[in-house]
Amino acid sequence: IENIGVFTSGGDAPGMNAAIRAVVRTALYYNIQVTGIRRGYEGMINGDMFLMDRRSVANIVQRGGTILKTARSELFRTPEGRKIAYEQLQKNKVDALVAIGGDGTFTGAKIFGNEFNMPVVGLPGTIDNDLFGTDFTIGYDTAINTAVSAVDKIRDTAESHDRLFIVEVMGRDCGLIALRTGIATGAEAILIPETINSGIESVFARLERGRRHKSSKIIIVAEADEAGGAFEIGDKIKEKYPNYDTRISILGHIQRGGSPTCMDRVLASRVGVAAVEALLDGHRNEMIGLIHNEISYTDFDHAIKHNTEINANFLKIVEILSL
Ligand code: F6P
Repeated sequence: IENIGVFTSGGDAPGMNAAIRAVVRTALYYNIQVTGIRRGYEGMINGDMFLMDRRSVANIVQRGGTILKTARSELFRTPEGRKIAYEQLQKNKVDALVAIGGDGTFTGAKIFGNEFNMPVVGLPGTIDNDLFGTDFTIGYDTAINTAVSAVDKIRDTAESHDRLFIVEVMGRDCGLIALRTGIATGAEAILIPETINSGIESVFARLERGRRHKSSKIIIVAEADEAGGAFEIGDKIKEKYPNYDTRISILGHIQRGGSPTCMDRVLASRVGVAAVEALLDGHRNEMIGLIHNEISYTDFDHAIKHNTEINANFLKIVEILSL
């Protein structure tokens, strides 16, 4: 391997810059060239790439977003698009890839790697924490801390007005952002897609139990919960409890930005170094993660299976603490 291409793809996540920095500096440490590819697969197809040096990643470890920018590419889903991408990589003498992103990124990486016999490894970069094969994804810790500080602020005003707030957090079809945010903010109820029988009826039951104490109530809902989004749940609550002074808050893309936490910076740095070393050791089509504080290697196929499980202890904690 003489020239590693690095790119970020899909939704950005805080810590992606720390990962890019780690990949660039590790490759240079082993005397390998690094090519930065802008805007993910889209930039690969457009030949939007440049050689990176140590200084091109200076002063970015603390910055949110991604200096390489990111995009979702429709063209890369087609064989024609991927062929152009491969030709562009050849033109730039790129002979291996580090893909930083989530399941969409890895799906593309797997197909591409097999189609052109190109060594590819991936780094888990998504706030959703929805990949199998790593305890945490890069960006998740920052996102939950952002969500927690936002909900703490909402709690202040909710308490002053004796209001009920429904706060919707991101996570695509995964409830892990909602789960941790809810536990950390003492939410009265948490609605996540992974739990059965956790729908609106369970929220009603909880509200019934806490009804006598007139104070603030916060319900955290994952964006993909089966009971609906925050507005839908709000309507149902207003209908059943017209006396509650109910408000809705959707945290949205604030969860994707900001300076990465120490946890995310260190995670990104560790897996970034390991990704380059993995390529040199012959690893292919694998995501590099961290399980129990040790570097782990998981086939792309397995990593994107959406089989991350909710720890049963967490559900019990929620049950006990939110009474
Ligand atoms: O995957 C990250 C994520 O922020 C999800 O939590 C969310 O569902 C989605 O991306 C939003 O995508 P977009 O930025 O394209 O609106």
